[in-house]
Amino acid sequence: IEAQLSDGPLKGKRILVTSGPTHEPIDPVRYIANRSSGTQGTAIGRALLALGAKVVFVTGPADAAAPQGAEVIRVQTAQQMLEAVESALPADAAIFAAAVADWRVSSASDRKLKKSKDGMPVLEFAENPDILRTVSQRKAERPALVIGFAAETDDVIENATAKLLRKGCDWIVANDVSPATGIMGGRENAVTLITEAGAEDWPRMDKDAVARQLAQRIAARLT
Ligand code: CTP
Ligand code: CA
Repeated sequence: IEAQLSDGPLKGKRILVTSGPTHEPIDPVRYIANRSSGTQGTAIGRALLALGAKVVFVTGPADAAAPQGAEVIRVQTAQQMLEAVESALPADAAIFAAAVADWRVSSASDRKLKKSKDGMPVLEFAENPDILRTVSQRKAERPALVIGFAAETDDVIENATAKLLRKGCDWIVANDVSPATGIMGGRENAVTLITEAGAEDWPRMDKDAVARQLAQRIAARLT
């Protein structure tokens, strides 16, 4: 079903996809992470493969299986994800669907933290590299099309547009993840695609359908 079409519109294109959460260790048995099943990222990888692309799929520890036929690079942390992404360049397009942890624990311990009568551990954090921003602002080997995601709970279009401009990507796929929408963790997604031409609201649909539509748009833009 997800076989690469040798003669699809994305034939000969190399496309990078990030997916899933990152895990940032606290100690050898604990971590902090964002919520992400990896479902949307996997669906995007499959849809691109179905149009004939060569897909490099850089994924954190997600529930969703990586798309069959992709070159899969598995990572745990944001720093590892950045390294993997940079090592996978050049690419014709890059889609950043991963839910990257914004912070890592700078005081991570090599040994398991133990409960103690003396009180609870205090974690110190450092900011993780912004992978989307780093790739968007590269001088050399910047993919011709860089697409970010913006999951927002408030002022979705304003926040997503500001994010696109701040990071320097070309398109951003915005979605409203406020609890009332029931989007988080579900099968469906309701997105707004923001491009150079403005904001387009797509109807609520299956994550696979969002992925297929996005892949079509990518193909139209790259060919
Ligand atoms: N992203 C990334 N590296 C990071 C953080 C985010 O590549 N360290 C990417 C995500 O994969 C997504 C986009 O940037 O495509 C937006 O992520 P988001 O968390 O919405 O943006 P942030 O800049 O982290 O802003 P916020 O404070 O809203 O979390
Ligand atoms: Ca973030």
